[in-house]
Amino acid sequence: MSKVHVFNHPLIQHKLSLIRDKHTGKKDFRELVEEVAMLMAYEVTRDFPLQEIEVETPIGLAKCQVIAGKKVGLVPILRAGLGMVDGVLRLIPAAKVGHVGLYRDPETLKPVEYYCKLPTDVEERDLIIIDPMLATGGSAVAAIEFLKKRGAKNIKLMCLIAAPEGVKAVQDAHSDVDIFVGAVDDHLNDHGYIVPGLGDAGDRLFGTK
Ligand code: PRP
Ligand code: URA
Repeated sequence: MSKVHVFNHPLIQHKLSLIRDKHTGKKDFRELVEEVAMLMAYEVTRDFPLQEIEVETPIGLAKCQVIAGKKVGLVPILRAGLGMVDGVLRLIPAAKVGHVGLYRDPETLKPVEYYCKLPTDVEERDLIIIDPMLATGGSAVAAIEFLKKRGAKNIKLMCLIAAPEGVKAVQDAHSDVDIFVGAVDDHLNDHGYIVPGLGDAGDRLFGTK
């Protein structure tokens, strides 16, 4: 069974409260999503293995630790996942970025694929799928399936807010994928929106609707 990590860091929780607020405008919303994604990346990379190297300082030799040859791939689910990309890249600038385009059919709530472009060496990379919302879980489950079909073995899922239904869907379908979230909310409403959630992440990021 995959693990669910809920970030309890005060900065993440504080910024998440501002993101949820319906009075927060586009500019602040975008900046906050990016900042929270950066803080989450700090936690998601906590298990990266280190190796010892020697560094010559102006005074002498220091035994230091560096990340041991990790190749990271970042995979935003379009559109709303794009809002988290720059924040993560600020901490992992060498990551390659793949894109999976999915939207939820408003009637069936099932994900519809419209784009997929991944790094060619996806099977060698530690992949982090990013999307602000994990609602029914349909989009995340489909994105993980795309990556696995291309040979990906090591996948994490990072979201701002999840519904219990979405967490369960991912765990049932992909028990090897750990889930990192800022909060697990109460439930989904009849339109598949997370309650209380933050509304429509894509619309709030891009000013549509
Ligand atoms: C939102 C969100 C997720 C998906 C979550 O995207 O960004 O991708 O819904 O819902 P699910 O867990 O029920 O699949 P949406 O389909 O609204 O597309 P958008 O990002 O283009 O707005
Ligand atoms: N997608 C969103 O943007 N928000 C939700 O609450 C659910 C799906």
